[in-house]
Amino acid sequence: MTGVDTSSSIATLQRDHLAALQQTYNEILTRLGLDGVLLYSGHPRRHFADDQEASFAAFGHFMHWIGQADLARSWLLICPGQRPRLKVHAPDDFWHLPARLPDEPWVATFEIEMSRDDAPPALPTGRFAVLGDVSAALADSLGAACNPTDLLGALDEGRVRKSDYEIACLRDANQQAMAGHRAARRAFLEGGAELDVQFAYLSASRQRETALPYASIVGLNAHAGVLHYQHYDNVAPARRRSLLLDAGHRQRGYCADITRTWAGPDADPAFAPLIEGVTALQQRLIDALAPGVDYVDLHQRMHQALGALLADQGLVHCTPEAAVDQGITRAFCPHGLGHSLGLQVHDVAGRVDGAGRPLPPPDRDPALRLTRKLEAGMVVTMEPGLYVIFMLLAPLKEGAAGGDIDWRLVEGLADHGGIRIEDNLVITPSGHDTLTPPV
Ligand code: GLY
Ligand code: MN
Ligand code: MN
Repeated sequence: MTGVDTSSSIATLQRDHLAALQQTYNEILTRLGLDGVLLYSGHPRRHFADDQEASFAAFGHFMHWIGQADLARSWLLICPGQRPRLKVHAPDDFWHLPARLPDEPWVATFEIEMSRDDAPPALPTGRFAVLGDVSAALADSLGAACNPTDLLGALDEGRVRKSDYEIACLRDANQQAMAGHRAARRAFLEGGAELDVQFAYLSASRQRETALPYASIVGLNAHAGVLHYQHYDNVAPARRRSLLLDAGHRQRGYCADITRTWAGPDADPAFAPLIEGVTALQQRLIDALAPGVDYVDLHQRMHQALGALLADQGLVHCTPEAAVDQGITRAFCPHGLGHSLGLQVHDVAGRVDGAGRPLPPPDRDPALRLTRKLEAGMVVTMEPGLYVIFMLLAPLKEGAAGGDIDWRLVEGLADHGGIRIEDNLVITPSGHDTLTPPV
């Protein structure tokens, strides 16, 4: 191809990533006795009885090769010993701009068909599987197995440890997201409403809303205590106590997932020290990240540390251990310490071991999405939180734990919602490296 900068490091990293991916697929397909696998990108859903579509992100295993989150109705055939065959749906269309592939070196290494139709390619004779959002009837018509769990599990496992290319993409996604977080903080301190904060974030991180890896969580005041708060008020509150912004970016398919919490001009004096406390305990937990560490143990350490923080700040009048044992820390933080991150924000294979055996979360921690031992190459989030959620705290009032909680202080913080500090980290052979730049 012409006009392609083959010397750029991302192209070199991508070439190595694709070579390793081909090798992984070869091994898995051979082991499972398959001649190939057909990956479907997926397509956007239409609203019922309407001609409008929901936003779309391609199937993760398709993106693992192609890195194009918006490539819809397209097919990729992987067979050992053959070049990947990509059939791109690019109809003649004067309503929309037909899909185009980027001017990048990887394109020349694939066999590409730009096609007016979105039908799956005919498969050669042999044993094939088709993966993605397809019906059993379509798989039958191709003579292929439909989403077989052994193949899916093996390929999921192949996404757990990231290549250098993937880590570079995740780092880039973090850089872009952090530019958004800086601007969003300014918008909040200048008096913006939730909607203004979201616009500032999108503008500075250079992305449209439908391209986000997840809907930004922009919570002012009590909304910061709604874990996945989904609205954007367009009027700023009269008193600005807090902002919790959980917002990311997608780069070549790979997701950043970053949260920051800021005290506003009307914050209770007890709030900023709590943010500092959560930030410090997050840093201590990050310091422990290394191969061989069990993520469930880190999650338990988060609860011990939250117990200590609650006691230090006078929110509870009991030992950290008693705060954990009585379920107080879990009422203040009902979510997990973090999760695997990659082509999906909550990436695949977080709750199985390397052989695909289930690793369910502890009974007390049903929301914990990562229950494995860490390995070099894994990318994880670390996102301790501390919230005032009366739905969870109120039941404690009646029991023994009720007497250990300083309800006056807790009620004073309710209008601040809560705190979450979230960074993205890669596990290295000797420890870890942070992908999230400073604010
Ligand atoms: N943004 C969703 C999460 O932090 O898991
Ligand atoms: Mn997260
Ligand atoms: Mn997040």
